[in-house]
Amino acid sequence: MSIKDQTKKIKKDFLERLDNCSSYDGSQIIKNDYLGRKGKLSELYSKLQSLPRSEKAYAGKQINDIKIFLSQKIESFTSSFTEKKSDLDKKDFTLPGDPHPLGSIHPITLVSEQIKDIFSKLGFSLAYGPEVDTEFFNFDALNIKDDHPARDMQDTFYIEPGVVLRTHTSNTQIHTMLKKDPPIKIIAPGRVYRNEDISVRSYCLFHQIEGLYIDKNVTFGDLKGLLNYFAKEFFGENVKTRFRPSFFPFTEPSAEMDIYWGLETESDYRITKGTGWLEILGCGMVDPEVFKSVKIDSEKWTGYAFGMGIERMAMLKYGIHDIRLFYEGDIRVLRQFR
Ligand code: PHE
Repeated sequence: MSIKDQTKKIKKDFLERLDNCSSYDGSQIIKNDYLGRKGKLSELYSKLQSLPRSEKAYAGKQINDIKIFLSQKIESFTSSFTEKKSDLDKKDFTLPGDPHPLGSIHPITLVSEQIKDIFSKLGFSLAYGPEVDTEFFNFDALNIKDDHPARDMQDTFYIEPGVVLRTHTSNTQIHTMLKKDPPIKIIAPGRVYRNEDISVRSYCLFHQIEGLYIDKNVTFGDLKGLLNYFAKEFFGENVKTRFRPSFFPFTEPSAEMDIYWGLETESDYRITKGTGWLEILGCGMVDPEVFKSVKIDSEKWTGYAFGMGIERMAMLKYGIHDIRLFYEGDIRVLRQFR
């Protein structure tokens, strides 16, 4: 068979094989069989040696042409393949997906939302006050006198003289009453700061929700009724509450409300100081002195206020025995909340 016939046959066989080939790996085998070092074309080249001189040039050109043809064919065949290979074929769609860890809602956020929901159903709207505030809003207007121990550097973080990190959300009472005329019915959630010794039950920052209701003929009975209703909504029908007389410069009379936690374990003793009860809020009837500082007529208007500690509520609800767990960001704790 002449070289020309042989190249024709090679071309025909090659195209046939390529037609039947459907994988990248298969195309590489074909490439090797024809264009490789021991492939069909190099066999042909070696036959050139034995040809008479007059035929060599022609036959050589035949082989070169077929070589170029085969190389181009293989090239374009595999290029479509390598494209596919890079995006689709490389991926194994049967593998399980990468786990995508979901965050969870921080228990403080969760509990704030629950508390806000309960009060908003009772007609309270939301108000916010600043975390960095002047002594006027945090102390003076709330009838907390200059010599009150709460002002002491040991309790209050001072930013500069006259400016503090608020020690309670009660500053929002003043902001609200200066902006708005009664009747007023708001709750004000937020972060507060106190320079306290850190322990299982207290931390240097925590969260409160302030409540303020100002209207005509508001009574202490209304306040007790509201807070007892709230406790049942939040903790369930069987919650045990008690009110203890207390003192706040901005309410008169004043009280604190406790929730029964229990006295079973050692940490129950530590958290409740051996009483079984945990204080969750301070409250009382708005003091006429406060009304005076915001220019509301205390002959005409009456009101109550309360401020509850969100961490305490979360501890009671979820049986968390150490307040510090809320601030440490330990995901073993946090992921238990949804
Ligand atoms: N501001 C008080 C505290 O932080 C709580 C309180 C609020 C008491 C409103 C009475 C009325 O302890």
